[in-house]
Amino acid sequence: MFQLKTSSPEETYAFGQKLADKIRQGMAFCLEGDLGAGKTLLVQGLANALHVIDEVTSPTFAIMNVYDGDYTIYHFDLYRLEFERELEDIGFYEYSETEDAVIIIEWPDRFPDDLPNDYIGLKIDRGRLENERIITISQQGKKNQKFYEELKELCRF
Ligand SMILES: Nc1ncnc2c1ncn2[C@@H]1O[C@H](COP(=O)(O)OP(=O)(O)OP(=O)(O)O)[C@@H](O)[C@H]1O
Ligand SMILES: [Mg+2]
Repeated sequence: MFQLKTSSPEETYAFGQKLADKIRQGMAFCLEGDLGAGKTLLVQGLANALHVIDEVTSPTFAIMNVYDGDYTIYHFDLYRLEFERELEDIGFYEYSETEDAVIIIEWPDRFPDDLPNDYIGLKIDRGRLENERIITISQQGKKNQKFYEELKELCRF
């Protein structure tokens, strides 16, 4: 894993935009962070760079939002779900393994055993200062190795 620090909402948004550079269809991102950490901002940056026109919000009540841009994006929020049965009901397993879209899963820690085999992990923590955030990037599985290495390189500067 590697980490980077953002010092403003704009920088977190810009990091989200950066993720779009090397993205491929079929990729999944698991996005962790407390309330107000900056998850939605990051996704807004990513969606903007993928030319999504619709407004990007927290899918807390909808459970899943769908955005159309350069790729279709399925944006999940598992916060309110309690049982694996509910994942089945919303079609989570089909969606999250699809090769025809980009998947973003918020609150993945709710269902650690039900996540895709391959994903990029993004965790946002608050830093020492008010507007500071520490973003930890990790990867799970082999599929995104190249993306991960390239992103790491991009983030060095
Ligand atoms: N470095 C930073 N990166 C991201 N957001 C920041 C930063 N500094 C301050 N903020 C503020 O933190 C808030 C992040 O809000 P956002 O809606 O993106 O969080 P969230 O993780 O989606 O929360 P929720 O779980 O409630 O949906 C915004 O008000 C933003 O202005
Ligand atoms: Mg949010």
